[in-house]
Amino acid sequence: MSHSITLTVNGKTVSATVEGRTLLVDFLREHLSLTGTHVGCDTSSCGACTVHIDGVSVKSCTTLAAQADGTSVTTIEGIANGDEMHPIQEGFKEKHGLQCGFCTPGMVMSAADLLKKNPHPTETEIRQALEGNFCRCTGYHNIVQAIQYAAEKMQKVEA
Ligand code: FES
Ligand code: FES
Repeated sequence: MSHSITLTVNGKTVSATVEGRTLLVDFLREHLSLTGTHVGCDTSSCGACTVHIDGVSVKSCTTLAAQADGTSVTTIEGIANGDEMHPIQEGFKEKHGLQCGFCTPGMVMSAADLLKKNPHPTETEIRQALEGNFCRCTGYHNIVQAIQYAAEKMQKVEA
């Protein structure tokens, strides 16, 4: 069955007709060409497909596009402030938090959700928040440092 949906994606209103079975990640990648959201497993294990719906991180490989009707979706393409990187993106760059980069969009989106809920996370809290995001390359250490960098920078901005 087809559904007409209208949602906001990275600040822009989008209307479309989707099949009931269309996954949000496929809608984002194939209908909207927002290919920064990756598919690593399709089984809700790896976190590469993480986006925000109404500010909360979700795995878009196990969310139907129809479920996002009426919501505001943010993807990795929408997290920067114009040409200015989000502090988490800057942290990944400064602390070498990526190698192949496949996991990075999902890591950034999960970290953004964490820092919104908990602006001063401990290392343990960062590692716990990333339990649903797999990285095959980095060993996680630099990812944790990248998020610590972002947390410090965001605190300075707020101060
Ligand atoms: Fe969604 Fe792996 S592709 S969790
Ligand atoms: Fe390659 Fe994380 S940087 S999977």
